[in-house]
Amino acid sequence: MPDVILLGAPGAGKGTQAQLLQREYGFAAISTGDLLRDHRARGTTLGQEAESFMQRGELVPDDVIIRMVESELPGKPVLFDGFPRTVAQAQALDALFEARRRPLPIAAYLKLDRARLEERLLGRWTNPRSGRVYHATFDPPKRSGIDDVDGGPLIQREDDRPETIARRLDVFEGQTLPLVAYYEAGNRLILIDAAQSVDAVSKALVAGLGLHQRAR
Ligand code: AP5
Repeated sequence: MPDVILLGAPGAGKGTQAQLLQREYGFAAISTGDLLRDHRARGTTLGQEAESFMQRGELVPDDVIIRMVESELPGKPVLFDGFPRTVAQAQALDALFEARRRPLPIAAYLKLDRARLEERLLGRWTNPRSGRVYHATFDPPKRSGIDDVDGGPLIQREDDRPETIARRLDVFEGQTLPLVAYYEAGNRLILIDAAQSVDAVSKALVAGLGLHQRAR
């Protein structure tokens, strides 16, 4: 099974698809956003370093992120969600894989227009305990503000406010979008239309990554 990078703007559905693929195919998942939020909740030095960047919708410095991913990288196939986000991070990841004599990861670009990205982020509700996400319109919980599974409260992320969303989308276009060309040049990019339903996106990913025969 390949190592996979889910590449896409904030709100494209990376976290949603990562949870599904992880469950179906047994990938290990590395979400740099979730790892950073966990560091912040625990008040670690790394979490304190990251806090102001995240609040402003800016990227956390590359060296902090690369150190964090390096220490988390397991032996089994990984789904990267929200990493890499800059060309420097992509090059560092490739160097790490080469040093470990591991085949380079494949990137799946979940492409979605800006208006839909904003709509998804503005309507998102998150379970901070499990990371599961809902959407007020597209995937509402049975009871408003309450998780279907653990019955605890859902929250709206602090960076899902309109002004921070706009900044995050600008940062994506300026700093992360060049990765599409980076992976295309290496012939390891698949393009996915993320405007489809969750199920259809999932099927396109499974087909594009050649995972069909690997269901557990
Ligand atoms: P991070 O936590 O990675 O956030 P993000 O990339 O901004 O992505 P999101 O989690 O917002 O969106 P998603 O694509 O996962 O969408 P989701 O599945 O939830 O990063 C947060 C911050 O941490 C960054 O701003 C930065 O500061 C820092 N950071 C993280 N990684 C970093 C790195 N590598 N380098 C530097 N800094 C870093 O879906 C969104 C909504 O849409 C949900 O409500 C969902 O229910 C709904 N939805 C999903 N799919 C569909 C569909 N197909 N149809 C309809 N609705 C859908």
